[in-house]
Amino acid sequence: MIMQEEKHEKVMNKIAIRITPPGPEAKKIVELDEKYLVKSTKSLPIVARRAAGVFVEDVDDNVYLDFASGISVVNMGHVHPEITARVQQQLHKLWHFAGTDYYYKEQVDAAKALTEITPGKFGKKVFFTNSGTESNEAAIKIAKAYTKRQQFVAFIGGFHGRTQGALSFTASRAIHHKGLFPSMPGVEHVPFPNPYRNPFGIDGYENPDELTSRTLDFIEKYVFPTYTPPENIAAFLAEPIQGEGGYIVPPMNFYRKLKKLLDEHGIILIMDEVQTGFGRTGKFFASEHFGVEPEVMSLAKSIASGIPMGAIVVKNELDFPEFGLHSNTFGGNVLASVACIATIEAMKKERAVENSEKMGKVLRKRLVELQEKFPQIGDVRGLGLMQAIDFVKDHKTKEPDTKLRDRVEYTAFQNGLLLLSTGLSAIRIIPPLIVNESQIDMGVEALEKGIKAAL
Ligand SMILES: Cc1ncc(COP(=O)(O)O)c(C=O)c1O
Repeated sequence: MIMQEEKHEKVMNKIAIRITPPGPEAKKIVELDEKYLVKSTKSLPIVARRAAGVFVEDVDDNVYLDFASGISVVNMGHVHPEITARVQQQLHKLWHFAGTDYYYKEQVDAAKALTEITPGKFGKKVFFTNSGTESNEAAIKIAKAYTKRQQFVAFIGGFHGRTQGALSFTASRAIHHKGLFPSMPGVEHVPFPNPYRNPFGIDGYENPDELTSRTLDFIEKYVFPTYTPPENIAAFLAEPIQGEGGYIVPPMNFYRKLKKLLDEHGIILIMDEVQTGFGRTGKFFASEHFGVEPEVMSLAKSIASGIPMGAIVVKNELDFPEFGLHSNTFGGNVLASVACIATIEAMKKERAVENSEKMGKVLRKRLVELQEKFPQIGDVRGLGLMQAIDFVKDHKTKEPDTKLRDRVEYTAFQNGLLLLSTGLSAIRIIPPLIVNESQIDMGVEALEKGIKAAL
């Protein structure tokens, strides 16, 4: 027992693969997982024992560099000391008190903090949820209640969750819908201005303005006049940068122009910042890159550093007209509220957003250097520490190489680097925002080894 504790105190500061993963202990747990849990979206057979900062140790004593951040959740690193201490203190005072029905200061403080950091100088209010999906469900309902309209528009390639409401917006992979039709009716999908691959055949890196205007024309000249009258549309639900769809950054002028079009028709913009939020892109929220202030913002993932929490932040006037229209049990849970406040404070204190911008540039440079070495990398894209590389069979046709991408995800893991795939053929590289330059070098070196092993 004592030996075990001593072992746990060892500092993790570099990749250390002692046995090719998955090792024997990991295999046992994977087997039990298969026995007791239903199938979801498992990516890699890593079985974690503990983690600190940007490193994770598995049950076979391997140490990995975590460039997946629990799907962009532990943006301040694993087991951040100050956030942990704040939650520990709270554990001895009050855990849960049904913040939708009763009152406590921590929930109000967390809501106030969110209204202060989100874009928009207007007054705002918050509804707390337990996940990104549930945030989008709340956003859909609040938009319906406010506008008294029933239809919505979303983007092909978007991901907004998997419950019956959110699923009707999600359009990033057909498997999400397989055998599940119908979900909520009334959601129309339009092409996203994807600079790399789009149905218009435009090179959006060379001609971003053309891509913006063709996409908006499609909405204004085809969708609105033919089958979705704008006066029926409550809201447009969009990710500023598509996450599960492949880390797609639209042209920088796109959202400003889309917002103008929506304003002309009284349509609300719901920005789903579940993955892009909390400094991931080098600004607190990705909407800031595009100069838009959405009426509704959906949040989750890193909002409370891994204690389950989500939120919508809405313009004051969108508040539900009366009590009882929407609620939940755990939203704004005391521990989650404390973790949310502590996360925001730690981010400010450690200048995490600035580091995301700075280290994002370093990471991007290294990835472009990799692309020069490996013609299989067709595209490098992203903002801040939200970066991805896209594997192709051919640079000209940009045909996705899904198999190679999947192999690289696995071989990088065997070389001690945790990554997650996204879209058809991309791998996301999303370290905690506290990552430093030498850790980025360590990660890119492991990625290069992984690519070589996968080819
Ligand atoms: C942009 C976006 N919206 C919503 C969700 C759903 O969030 P959750 O898995 O917390 O329900 C995700 C999850 O990946 C996401 O990336």
